[in-house]
Amino acid sequence: MILMVTNLPKEIEYLKVKKAEGQKTLNLIKINSKKYSVINQKYKILYDDEFIFFPLEENNELIEKVIASIENKIEIEIITKLSIINENYKFNSLQDALKGKIPDDYQELIPKSYDLIGNIAIIEFDKFEHIEKSELSNYKKEIAKAITLVNKKIMIVYEKKSEIMGTYRLRDLALLYGENKSETVYKENNCTFKLDVKKTYFTPRLVSERRRVAFSEIKQNELIVDMFAGVGPFSIQIAKNHDVRIYAFDVNPDAYSYLKENVKSNMLKGEVIPYNLNVKDLLKPSDTLDKSLQGKADRIIMNLPEKSIEFIDIACFLMKKSGGFLHFYQFSEKPNPIKRTIELLNKKLNDFNWLIEKIITSKIVKSYSPKAELVGLDLCIRSVNFLRK
Ligand SMILES: C[S@@+](CC[C@H](N)C(=O)[O-])C[C@H]1O[C@@H](n2cnc3c(N)ncnc32)[C@H](O)[C@@H]1O
Repeated sequence: MILMVTNLPKEIEYLKVKKAEGQKTLNLIKINSKKYSVINQKYKILYDDEFIFFPLEENNELIEKVIASIENKIEIEIITKLSIINENYKFNSLQDALKGKIPDDYQELIPKSYDLIGNIAIIEFDKFEHIEKSELSNYKKEIAKAITLVNKKIMIVYEKKSEIMGTYRLRDLALLYGENKSETVYKENNCTFKLDVKKTYFTPRLVSERRRVAFSEIKQNELIVDMFAGVGPFSIQIAKNHDVRIYAFDVNPDAYSYLKENVKSNMLKGEVIPYNLNVKDLLKPSDTLDKSLQGKADRIIMNLPEKSIEFIDIACFLMKKSGGFLHFYQFSEKPNPIKRTIELLNKKLNDFNWLIEKIITSKIVKSYSPKAELVGLDLCIRSVNFLRK
């Protein structure tokens, strides 16, 4: 099915009355329809020297009743006229904003949700191989524009073009609407984060998890290591609320650069010290930082869910031998993803002569794919060689 998608104004029906009768008409409309429900507020009311033109809703069952009640009191005419979009109209939903723009057969194209990062929305479309490419591209642009009409804060819309990939955990994004800019400012739990959605990893989907960790019981002066800090959402929210010292690492120079800026711009109670470093390098004998950090951490955050498990040696190297807290995130396959993660972690810790002393929290943070979940564990771990007195 071909439906031309266009941003040009379309012809709609208007109720035409003399200017002098405008207010009286509005009063009659108000009395005879639910408030002003027959007036199509997506379009502007138009005027010329003599007349006012009220845009009418399409297929509204009250229109006939309203017209019947007005026409014996006021001289009216129903005419068709080129409409002008009312930019201030607040659409209730994406479906509302897309009425008449996406054919009924293709309604499943409209995404149920999208990620919102500052003034940027990021949408994912399922594969629609049965729709011709240029037609599909038009619909995607219409949907992107509609997103900005529903949420006036959104200025730019990108489409996800790949999975999250590579060491820096980035994905390909294609611009669908707005300026070709990928830097934005995102607010969460009373903190602000400047970031670039193309050059740095960031997901708004962990907002509750970050709040939970940031407001958990953290002691004053704890030494914390955020091994995969990104632009700093965990580190900064913890340091905003606690008087602690956090060493925050990220191997991506862009993430590091935003992390530094975000540390400065958020008024922190504690201290966050950013490093642009591959945490594996902490084990290199040449590294000077290792001396000050070896066996010093009270708490470690490991949010690299594709392969946190591969960095357990670093966590054991950094954590106090007497024990500390580990916030561990890992993608894990179903069934029993939590059990699998605990078993895997336990085995890996044992390889380095460490053990799980206590599981404080174990949960599925969010769904990752049809086959796997993002598992989050809060644990106390300690070295096997540390003997309790
Ligand atoms: C999944 S992101 C998490 C970022 C951040 N914790 C958050 O919640 O937004 C993982 C981050 O780890 C960084 N990273 C990956 N491998 C690393 C390594 N070996 N050393 C330090 N950082 C690394 C990536 O650049 C990326 O920014």
